[in-house]
Amino acid sequence: MTARLIDGKALADTVKAEVAQRVLALKDRGVVPGLAVVLVGEDPASQVYVRNKAAACEKAGLHSRVLRLAADISEQHLLDVVRQLNEDDAVHGILVQLPLPKHMDAAKVIEAIAASKDVDGFHISNAGLLMTGQPLFRPCTPYGIMKMLESENVALRGAEAVVVGASNIVGKPMAMLLLAAGATVTLCNSKTRDLGAQTRRADVLVVATGKPGMVKGDMIKPGAVVIDVGINRGPDGKLVGDVEFESAKAVAGAITPVPGGVGPMTIAMLLVNTLEAAERGAT
Ligand code: GUN
Repeated sequence: MTARLIDGKALADTVKAEVAQRVLALKDRGVVPGLAVVLVGEDPASQVYVRNKAAACEKAGLHSRVLRLAADISEQHLLDVVRQLNEDDAVHGILVQLPLPKHMDAAKVIEAIAASKDVDGFHISNAGLLMTGQPLFRPCTPYGIMKMLESENVALRGAEAVVVGASNIVGKPMAMLLLAAGATVTLCNSKTRDLGAQTRRADVLVVATGKPGMVKGDMIKPGAVVIDVGINRGPDGKLVGDVEFESAKAVAGAITPVPGGVGPMTIAMLLVNTLEAAERGAT
């Protein structure tokens, strides 16, 4: 068997086109959705992500503002910047790009963002709302994955879903969204014994470990839907996922490529979250 490819780029384009339509409708009411992205320091990967996020905003008609701050600013300075954005009526969404420099407490910075503008969905209030089944903002990567599963008509009710990687950004919120959709969810972490025994049970397998090629074909149930969140640079400079693509493709029923799978959907859902914040009149 060769797995069907799940085209995240094409779906992201569709989602972004829908966002652009809704942005036009809001503009008729005199509101231009605005996203502020805060980048501290010069991490090369973060610079690329931030550039892509700002470009996607502009293309869909949202206003974006990128605040670039030096790596050695104080945590207090960053907190002051965030608080100013909280009070800025032209800013509906605030995203502080992670990771932050080591001398800053990322949790404290995220808590300083107004929960009503937390388009990443990382604020403790938004994490709690998600966990209790009343989400305000869903974190963009898991939200994009749910959209992909929906567009592929993947049945989640009663399905075995296995998530590998338990980060606050992807793994934990992913587990919550799959659970809310009626899946039986297993959340694996770096201490999980016999990972293959877990992943081989999965009808839907989501891998977000940051370890290139960690999940191989023999760890996948034949016909499973495999979602690869990893974006790693291989020794030859090419992008590779956390799933070993060739061996996985021979076993899975459907699989996301890297690049062109989850990555584009993450940005598309950031636009959705920002648009919805503006639609809710978050100021
Ligand atoms: N760093 C890597 N992914 C993300 C993300 O989705 N949001 C933010 N703020 N930082 C990130």
